[in-house]
Amino acid sequence: MRELCDVSGFDELQTKGFEVEGKNLLLVKHRDEFYLYENSCPHRSIPLEWQPDQFLDFEKTFIQCATHGALFKIDTGECIAGPCVADSLTAVPFQKQGNRILIDL
Ligand code: FES
Repeated sequence: MRELCDVSGFDELQTKGFEVEGKNLLLVKHRDEFYLYENSCPHRSIPLEWQPDQFLDFEKTFIQCATHGALFKIDTGECIAGPCVADSLTAVPFQKQGNRILIDL
């Protein structure tokens, strides 16, 4: 396991992108839970964000792909609107130890 980041000070509905060993990841905090996904839209297999660390839609309700606007549920990664409906972001397993997010890639 290796440390991805320290999340002390990570705000509700904050999102952050990472590149680890060639993989793009995104972390989001929602209702005091953390969710980690591969930063790759299932529609075209490209990164989701249009600005660094900005992954949510305007209302901060869903993760949004900037290219064609697909919307994904924050807690499951399921696409509920856009060209890849019913497809999902790929969840990345992690452990949270204290304020540290640990991953095993
Ligand atoms: S590339 Fe994400 S919706 Fe098309």
